[in-house]
Amino acid sequence: MTDQLAQAALDVRDHAYAPYSHFFVGAAIEDVDGHIHTGCNIENATYGLTVCAERVAVWKAMSEGARQFRRIAIAADTETLAPPCGACRQILWEFCGDIEIVMVNLRGASETVRLKDLYPRAFDAAFL
Ligand code: THU
Repeated sequence: MTDQLAQAALDVRDHAYAPYSHFFVGAAIEDVDGHIHTGCNIENATYGLTVCAERVAVWKAMSEGARQFRRIAIAADTETLAPPCGACRQILWEFCGDIEIVMVNLRGASETVRLKDLYPRAFDAAFL
């Protein structure tokens, strides 16, 4: 069964702007108040200025005042469920700590992992 957060990630994926890769991603992050903030990947002709769905969702949530998060769902059209990229793992660690990550595809498959397992020994403010 697809839960509300996963469904939000699947729905916002339809808004992805990905004319270069044609790889459409949706993300939905739930804050501690239960609000869901969504994001999709937004590409750029320079390629390097592309922003992933996860980061768009985090930036939107932060800019709306959210500061603590419970879970993030990521939706992509892949057989093997797509995890967040390295840059997004670092950003998620900064703002969400060891958050639950729900990866889903369009066929109803899903898997939940923790960020700490995907991104062990992260560099963060504790080192500064
Ligand atoms: N992408 C994401 O949105 N999230 C990820 O975690 C992996 C990659 C996007 C970036 C780019 O627009 C496209 O997928 C192909 O890399």
